[in-house]
Amino acid sequence: MTLSISTQDASQLGGEGSILLRQRRDHAQLDAMMNRYLNPHSTPEQRAALWKDIVQLVFSHAFAEETVLWPLLRRIHGDGELLTARVEQEHQEINELIARIEKTTDTDDPSRTAWIQQAFTLIRQDIRDEEDELLPHLREAFSDRRLRQIGAAWETVRAGAPTHPHPAVSRRPPGNALSGLPLSAFDRLGDLAPFTSPSARRASLVTAAAVTLAAAIFLARRAHHSIRQQTERMGKKKSLA
Ligand SMILES: [Fe+2]
Ligand SMILES: [Fe+2]
Repeated sequence: MTLSISTQDASQLGGEGSILLRQRRDHAQLDAMMNRYLNPHSTPEQRAALWKDIVQLVFSHAFAEETVLWPLLRRIHGDGELLTARVEQEHQEINELIARIEKTTDTDDPSRTAWIQQAFTLIRQDIRDEEDELLPHLREAFSDRRLRQIGAAWETVRAGAPTHPHPAVSRRPPGNALSGLPLSAFDRLGDLAPFTSPSARRASLVTAAAVTLAAAIFLARRAHHSIRQQTERMGKKKSLA
């Protein structure tokens, strides 16, 4: 029987910076924004700004979960595969729904309103599954210090994650990182200044992919170099022994 993280205080969840507190803070922020969006007194301008913030937070938050948290959970828990497959399916449905919503331009279209309601229901279900079922297993498996380290890793990935739906991207590493990170640079350019034409979108995507590819090659070379150094040091120790 797992104890939901929604009922525990900060010290029980590993203290400030712990992945569990960071998750709960984002979930509360999303919940508040969805409530404000649905408030009949909100103006169309307020709704448009809230929608943008909700979409950015949902996708960067979920990408970092898929990259950092769920692979960890699969390693530490016997039912990890089953548990994480369920939330990945929820993430996929949210991706498909929001991609469909973002394609509709008429904000008064009744189907758009219904899809938004459906997306909010799915996001709330995802939050409940994580706080009540998945995240408690991280609390059981890790020390406070480790929960804070996982929190820092998750935050780093979230800071560079895609901010828009990409339903065709894999929900699991390494496929999600290989396709998602170039798209992240593309999303963030679009967040700063909307693209003026399809050719501007294409050019930005190509630039973002090239920059990410160059960064990936640099990191791969650095990792290869440090592995070679370690191997050489081990070889020297052996010959001295
Ligand atoms: Fe979450
Ligand atoms: Fe999630």
